[in-house]
Amino acid sequence: MAITKEEFDLIRQFVHEHSGILVGDGKEYLVENRLNVILVKNKCDNFFQLYEKLKKDNGALCVEVIDAMTTNETLWFRDTSFFAALSNFVIPTLLEKALHKPKIRIWSAACSTGQEPYSVAMLLDQARSAMGKTAPPLDRFAILATDISPSVLSIATMGRYSQLAISRGMRPAFLERFFINRGSYYEVAPGIHDIVTFKQFNLKEDFKPLGSFDFILCRNVLIYFSNELKSEIYRKLYESLVRDGILSIGASESPRGYTTVFEQVMVEGAALYRPSTNAGLS
Ligand SMILES: C[S@@+](CC[C@H](N)C(=O)[O-])C[C@H]1O[C@@H](n2cnc3c(N)ncnc32)[C@H](O)[C@@H]1O
Repeated sequence: MAITKEEFDLIRQFVHEHSGILVGDGKEYLVENRLNVILVKNKCDNFFQLYEKLKKDNGALCVEVIDAMTTNETLWFRDTSFFAALSNFVIPTLLEKALHKPKIRIWSAACSTGQEPYSVAMLLDQARSAMGKTAPPLDRFAILATDISPSVLSIATMGRYSQLAISRGMRPAFLERFFINRGSYYEVAPGIHDIVTFKQFNLKEDFKPLGSFDFILCRNVLIYFSNELKSEIYRKLYESLVRDGILSIGASESPRGYTTVFEQVMVEGAALYRPSTNAGLS
């Protein structure tokens, strides 16, 4: 079903209001491709009828449309420089902190199908093993992994991945150590699975109920938002980080121009961010 310009504007406005996702000019094909099945399933003759249903619905249909409009591209150990910085700086810092603090909290704020939080959990456990008897126990770490999309969260929560998904970045030694081969799929082993909790969460919401974190990954999601929403999310991320916390954003993203509350730290060619010591919120 082809979408008219008026229908496109109504639907993209709806998607923006509910998720922050900006659908750019000329992306009519994207809305058509992603929402056509929902249109047919809901017996709508055109996108205007779907929009009318969306306006009346405040639940399932809205969730389904937003889910379909998200881009969930992800990989294991995505971005070599970042994961080198994680292994050589962030994780040693967190392990040291865990010797004195009962719980170290990590947040993967747009976790998609789970590759990002599980990659962090595997690296943490590997680094713990290398420390030997002096290592803090794994359950001293809690990883909260959130996303707006229920369909990616169901895959992430199960922790089951096809050979194709595994082939996208998984390291053989980690596959051997942290996964159970179930024949047609690989399953994340219980020790790793147990320290990650998945939850549906929209980054437009208030972050306060989630508590504070020692390390936040908010990677490759801010690119989909307006400048105004980026500024708001940087402010909320700052407020959610403990004062010596660390923030990681995507390699193509930068807080410059949106906030001055973070200081950049370059590690292994990757940019990490720390709350600025003299931060005046902007
Ligand atoms: C491209 S993926 C990035 C996944 C992972 N962070 C990575 O870098 O590989 C972007 C994710 O952001 C999620 N997302 C989009 N808008 C969101 C919102 N308003 N709140 C929470 N998650 C959102 C999408 O569902 C998608 O899974």
